Amino acid sequence: MLFFGLPTVILAFVNAAQSAGLEPRDLLQTLQGQAFQALKDSEENSTVGTHACAVSNASVRRDWADMGTKERKDYIKAVQCIIALPSKSDPAKVPGARTRYDDFVAQHINQTLTIHGTGNFLSWHREECGYKGHQPYWNWFSYQDGQRISPVFDGSETSMGGDGHFVQHNGSAGGGRVIYLPSGEGGGCIASGPFQGLQVNLGPVSPTMDGAIKVKTPLAYNPRCAKRDLTTYASSNWLTLANLQNITIGPASKNIETFQNELQGRFSDSFLGLHSAGHYTIGGDAADFYSSSPNDPVFFMHHAMLDRVWWIWQSLHLDQAKTVAGTIARNSNPLARNTTVDDLIQTNYLVLKHVKIWDLLSSTEGPLCYIYL
Ligand SMILES: *[C@@H]1O[C@H](CO)[C@@H](O)[C@H](O)[C@H]1NC(C)=O
Ligand SMILES: *[C@@H]1O[C@H](CO)[C@@H](O)[C@H](O)[C@H]1NC(C)=O
Ligand SMILES: *[C@@H]1O[C@H](CO)[C@@H](O)[C@H](O)[C@H]1NC(C)=O
Ligand SMILES: *[C@@H]1O[C@H](CO)[C@@H](O)[C@H](O)[C@H]1NC(C)=O
Ligand SMILES: *[C@@H]1O[C@H](CO)[C@@H](O)[C@H](O)[C@H]1NC(C)=O
Ligand SMILES: *[C@@H]1O[C@H](CO)[C@@H](O)[C@H](O)[C@H]1NC(C)=O
Repeated sequence: MLFFGLPTVILAFVNAAQSAGLEPRDLLQTLQGQAFQALKDSEENSTVGTHACAVSNASVRRDWADMGTKERKDYIKAVQCIIALPSKSDPAKVPGARTRYDDFVAQHINQTLTIHGTGNFLSWHREECGYKGHQPYWNWFSYQDGQRISPVFDGSETSMGGDGHFVQHNGSAGGGRVIYLPSGEGGGCIASGPFQGLQVNLGPVSPTMDGAIKVKTPLAYNPRCAKRDLTTYASSNWLTLANLQNITIGPASKNIETFQNELQGRFSDSFLGLHSAGHYTIGGDAADFYSSSPNDPVFFMHHAMLDRVWWIWQSLHLDQAKTVAGTIARNSNPLARNTTVDDLIQTNYLVLKHVKIWDLLSSTEGPLCYIYL
């Protein structure tokens, strides 16, 4: 539906960029074009019959900044709809859940979602709130010096809400509490836009912002406003094209393990990585990233961007696209076994139930059917 004769446009762009000598700001578009072309070639060369989903008819996930007023408002309305629907969680298991949105937060608190969690969120919008659009992403590589004026955070009626009210505090302790992030100009409840004063019910479970008090029981009812503290410190230092380059085509792109580790950050080197830096750029509730960060609705757009970067890496490394790395439990002692592609992703309250990791490793060959633009 949102397909605009993409190949020609992108190829023309890539060729132009190459012959013009690459500008740093074009890196993302160039990688995007190359990823798209690689997927298309591999599909054309495939001898494995036809798939129900093809690059030409997959849904297209786009940059929030490139979406029109109506498209943005439809997405905002769908998120607000989920926030207004009652929870379906078992109150004995999740006493604090009040809304359908809380169910998703509870799922994240109970078990850290995989990078593909956004796939579930989208089907949820669709099934329960009639959302017809696709999951947008927050493009990290613009407005790194001023998120408060970005289309995502400018506080207008087509944004995901503005910064928090200013509350004096001493920043956040990021990256496993070893990286100090000075405070921005927020810290309080979301001050403007569609999610102004948004109430959340679960967490915080592992807050990092100065002054935040964690709940004693993770899934207990703790109504309060969602807080934000937009900081340029995290975005200007770590949401950089140099990092993007490193993990997609540079030394860290070598295999899924190096890609994933660099994306997550090297905290002992005081290096946040793209994933963590996104969370700390939003600050407040979103910076509770081991557990209740989805309380901030921008979470899903941040993770869609993360998914996009992974999609680009996969498309540029098709022979490794369906590999995984890492153990099944974080920081466990003794070390947990390695994850395999046959492991199930358990999403108790969500739409895709007990799906194998393998099925989610491609955005076009399994139950998912989308590409990025
Ligand atoms: C697909 O086929 C084209 C033309 O034969 C070739 O140039 C390209 O390298 C192939 N791509 C892949 C991913 O095999
Ligand atoms: C998408 O395109 C592929 C390849 O052309 C085709 O086999 C498939 O039936 C199409 N799917 C839909 C839902 O149109
Ligand atoms: C948390 O996850 C475990 C393991 O997947 C599951 O058995 C349990 O029911 C979940 N708890 C809640 C509250 O959903
Ligand atoms: C703020 O926190 C940092 C890191 O924990 C600490 O070094 C600094 O002294 C604190 N500043 C104030 C004013 O409390
Ligand atoms: C690229 O990633 C590797 C680790 O995978 C790291 O050692 C190196 O410092 C990174 N380079 C840059 C420019 O960040
Ligand atoms: C887990 O994978 C790592 C490589 O990522 C490997 O070094 C290690 O031996 C594996 N562990 C087991 C128990 O297979």
